[in-house]
Amino acid sequence: MELGDVVRTAVTSRFYTDQPVTDEELRTAFDYARFAPQGGNRQPVRFIVVRDQATKDQLAEWYRVPWKGYLAQAREGVIGVGVEAQKAEKTLSNADHFADHLQDIPVIVVACAHLEGVHPTDTELDRLSVVGGGSIYPAVQNFLLGCREAGLGAALTTLLVMFEPQVKELLGIPDGVVTAAHIPVGHRPRDFPSKLDRIGLDEVVYDGTWGQSLYSQTGP
Ligand SMILES: Cc1cc2nc3c(=O)[nH]c(=O)nc-3n(C[C@H](O)[C@H](O)[C@H](O)COP(=O)(O)O)c2cc1C
Repeated sequence: MELGDVVRTAVTSRFYTDQPVTDEELRTAFDYARFAPQGGNRQPVRFIVVRDQATKDQLAEWYRVPWKGYLAQAREGVIGVGVEAQKAEKTLSNADHFADHLQDIPVIVVACAHLEGVHPTDTELDRLSVVGGGSIYPAVQNFLLGCREAGLGAALTTLLVMFEPQVKELLGIPDGVVTAAHIPVGHRPRDFPSKLDRIGLDEVVYDGTWGQSLYSQTGP
């Protein structure tokens, strides 16, 4: 596949078949992940591939705690969903189906990181620190793109990070290592979409200073 096709179609998959996912099918995606940039090339990211049914059952049960709360608030309009109103309910009901069937997805990949290997340069600012994640999420995105290239559906999730102490105990994750994402992976019952729903370049890129669009056309 062309890189552009991979990037434009790496959708968050909400529906999966029962077909197992082999270690070989995942290998290239993990290989792409390890080539992601990381601050100081400290390479803090590690992945755990979870297949055990009882473990997936537990992860799914914990996941649904924050999810059902989020769902209720989103349906009440307390939390914005980020899409037009008529699309919002479809998005939510698909994500709810995903949550209810999380334990049935063949693999849940847990993305972890050694905290000492991330290098946040923004902790002294009077705002939320985001730079530390910059040494983790490029690897996660490379993994997602590798899954797409391999024809595997996947979904980046972070809600379960709220249960990090419990997840660490369940999976034997040592002190000093954090959980950053949980990524179910499996085969899709349907084709991938031809293009993801995203805002255009005219809204994303500014020319010289904030607010002046560099590109007037959104492009395909
Ligand atoms: C940082 C991050 C965290 C996310 N966490 C969750 C999550 O916990 N649960 C979930 O269902 N989707 C999660 N998503 C997926 C987004 O909802 C999804 O990317 C978005 O709706 C756009 O959908 P699309 O990628 O299929 O176009 C997350 C995405 C990102 C980037």
